Amino acid sequence: MPTATGIIAEIQAKVDLLAYVSQYVTLRKRGREYTGLCPFHAEKTPSFSLNAEKQVWHCYGCDAGGDLISFVKRYENVEFPDALRMLAARAGVALQESSDLRRRRSEREAIYEANAVAKAFFSDALSKSAEAQAYVARRGLAEATCERFGLGFAPDSWDGLTSALARAKVDLPTAARAGLISRRQNEEGYIDFFRRRLMFPIFNLTGEVIAFGGRALGDAEPKYLNTKNTPVFTKGQHVYGLAVARKAAAAQEALIVVEGYMDCLALHQAGFGNVVATSGTAFTPEQARELRRVANNVYLCFDGDAAGQAATTRNVDMLVEEGLHIEVVTLPGGRDPDDLVREGGPEAFATLLAASRSWTDFKIDAAIQRIERRFASKSDVARQAMAVIARVHDPIEKDQYIKAMARKLDVDEASLRSLRPALVATQNERNGGPQHRRAPAPPRRGLSFERELIQLILARPALLDEAMERVATEDFEDEELGRTYDVLHNARSTIAQGVSPVSVLSDAPNVADLTRLALSSPPLDAQEEAQRFERILERFDRRRMQRRLYHVDAEMNRLFTEGKSVPELLRDEYNSLSVTLRGAAPDKREGKH
Ligand code: GTP
Ligand code: MN
Repeated sequence: MPTATGIIAEIQAKVDLLAYVSQYVTLRKRGREYTGLCPFHAEKTPSFSLNAEKQVWHCYGCDAGGDLISFVKRYENVEFPDALRMLAARAGVALQESSDLRRRRSEREAIYEANAVAKAFFSDALSKSAEAQAYVARRGLAEATCERFGLGFAPDSWDGLTSALARAKVDLPTAARAGLISRRQNEEGYIDFFRRRLMFPIFNLTGEVIAFGGRALGDAEPKYLNTKNTPVFTKGQHVYGLAVARKAAAAQEALIVVEGYMDCLALHQAGFGNVVATSGTAFTPEQARELRRVANNVYLCFDGDAAGQAATTRNVDMLVEEGLHIEVVTLPGGRDPDDLVREGGPEAFATLLAASRSWTDFKIDAAIQRIERRFASKSDVARQAMAVIARVHDPIEKDQYIKAMARKLDVDEASLRSLRPALVATQNERNGGPQHRRAPAPPRRGLSFERELIQLILARPALLDEAMERVATEDFEDEELGRTYDVLHNARSTIAQGVSPVSVLSDAPNVADLTRLALSSPPLDAQEEAQRFERILERFDRRRMQRRLYHVDAEMNRLFTEGKSVPELLRDEYNSLSVTLRGAAPDKREGKH
């Protein structure tokens, strides 16, 4: 970053440490210093201390400390350049005043800057417009919610924003590339792109505004107008509200995904801090990865009406393939979450969340409903449901599904099980594939906890030793991550001397991915971190046992079909693994918002 010292000086002059830290820590004045509970480790008595005169902070409990920038680095868990950019955005005009710097900044940054000016303009306009205020009030949005999401208003004017951008010395062609203004047809100059709309800024994970969504106040079409694709924004690749929801989601290890901007805001206001929105589009793999950077468990809120369900269903398989655990929350017909909490309060939504079903359950139930609606015969549905169940890799889970299916369909369990080979045969025939039964592949599940382990070690190298005691290189399914783990393993003494794991890995082919992984690690306090670490190690243990169980199961089946007797030792191992796995099975309700 060019002339960083100049920027730092400007930022430090504009952003007061006390004011900044007070947003996150409740501080009390004690003599010359302010004290509070440290945000970087769990504690009951305050050992975090801040000196406003010297603009420094220190924690006597965990020994962390530094200036404004180091606080941002630590609190937001970002690297130096990102911390600077976040602070510069907050300082507002600071970066725009230096024209020399502006020229040198890349186009991306110039667009972030234009968007920041636009956001400030919109939020000022919101505070001044009686019409917009009335709309916000009618939608039941509290001021704190609007502020938290940076809501604004694009006035009913052709050049309100254009003039404001010009006044702020933003390069207008850049603002046009940012999608904020457009060229007049057959005339010189530009006009505002958004007019008479409630504005929802879309932030990336480091807090820059990358786009806007604008809700018409009246019944103008379209109801929602979004920024077109720009150098910093591609439709369908981002998730609305992720920057706001990130911390709560990381702590709860779960995200709640709704469709609408309004739904997202209404749920946050109702106390659900881990809600994000897809903006009505179908999921893309990029979005799945964004979600996974924050949490592995995802609650999808489905519209009660059948059309909405059919549209989203195919897409959800992709999310599962990306390694997310999906729970489905079904909304009562015709209601969106916004309506729901306005009518029934937070409890109404909490009740729905508590009634969520896993993706597999959801698909099976949907199949059964088809019988009830007489769209399908019992045997068709049984076949379809068994096809869904066939994709479940965990033999115990699979067994439970078959039992539940038999109960629900009121058919004999054995006849359900007997559908299995037939189904495999017909699928093979349809695909023109080989007619014999393929050898079962070992279970493959989401790789995300492997990534999580590497991420955690990158953030907290002290965990490497304990990880190595419990996880071997061979335990990784992802070969690249396995190699990464191996490199870390061999460099353990270098790392123990304080060399950062990322620099040890600087020659690795996946170093960019690893850097991103390190940068995206969620901020956790010591206790959360320990819990997360333990949970990841348990996932490794569990998978090791599942694989073994799978092999034992296959071996027992082979002996069965060959008419041989199953040795008692094998049977015992099967039983003990089943019991342990069942006991260690993560409670599906855990981590719910
Ligand atoms: P309200 O009607 O204000 O409560 O919004 P809503 O979020 O309930 O609207 P709806 O359920 O109709 O749409 C869900 C989401 O789809 C919205 O939040 C938008 O992100 C998106 N969306 C809806 N209508 C449009 C549209 O006309 N154009 C675009 N691009 N997106 C839309
Ligand atoms: Mn709505």
